[in-house]
Amino acid sequence: MAKAIKVFAPASVANVAVGFDILGFALEKPGDEIIIREGKEPGLKITEIRGAQGKLPYDVMKNTAGYAAHRLLAHLGALDVPLEMEIHKKMPFGSGLGSSAASAVGGVFGVNEFLKTGLSKLDILRYAVEGEEIADGAFHADNVGPALLGGMVLIRDNETLDVKKLPIPRGLFAVVIYPHIEILTRESRGILKPEISFKSAITQTGNLAAFVAGMYTSDFELMGRSLRDVIVEPQRAHLIPNFYDVKEMALSQGCLGFSISGAGPSMFALCTDSMMAEEIGNRAAAIMKASKIETDIFLSPINLEGAYRF
Ligand code: HSE
Repeated sequence: MAKAIKVFAPASVANVAVGFDILGFALEKPGDEIIIREGKEPGLKITEIRGAQGKLPYDVMKNTAGYAAHRLLAHLGALDVPLEMEIHKKMPFGSGLGSSAASAVGGVFGVNEFLKTGLSKLDILRYAVEGEEIADGAFHADNVGPALLGGMVLIRDNETLDVKKLPIPRGLFAVVIYPHIEILTRESRGILKPEISFKSAITQTGNLAAFVAGMYTSDFELMGRSLRDVIVEPQRAHLIPNFYDVKEMALSQGCLGFSISGAGPSMFALCTDSMMAEEIGNRAAAIMKASKIETDIFLSPINLEGAYRF
């Protein structure tokens, strides 16, 4: 057995406008790196956390990466195996980029690879979702699914983790705009009304179904008409300064759709090529800068691989 291995787990965009809690795609970067090595005493220990400014717990049971790995070890009956975990956070917290999901995925995927359990990514998905659950209090795989499996993942049912990877049309490219403000998922979920109208349910269902049909048939026009969120975006947009200005600009550049990435504050646009994505990123950064808000711009095709060992 190797003495140590290193894995990467990517950022992801959840909801994708039309699939609250049930749709997400992975980015190529940023992402977290996790090292798993043989420990000196029985059990899993987190020995180092870098890039988290002291904000993440070393207690395995309170850490998303640690807890996800713990759940896998419990399933394997291997809680006594001596293991050490090092977490290198390479993406911001509370950004809407699936930071806690990336850590949870890295933790469980790293241990699964290290122990050569023979379990597939699909087999360990549940433990990664359980890891993320301790950060935001809800069980949903719209970040964890794509971060682990790669691609654009549709979750028919979160409880049973009935997931399906969608085909990715050639040329599909994402830009993510991360304004440097923090929104905690727990709070951003807390403001959502528990009920929606019959009319919005019909509109959103039509859009989601048509978006998925567009992905299967590489029909960019249909995808563009469908990427409209009438339920969650209107309730969260006020949390993000300049949201509607940036959205108007992005749509005027011809992107397929623009909305909030996960629980925000990041925003994303899906584009038909990388140049359009870059132009939208530059213009969005300028709009934010005029309000004295710094941004990071991430340009990425849809990451087809998800978590990997390197
Ligand atoms: N679907 C989740 C939300 C993603 O929007 O609250 C963030 O965890």
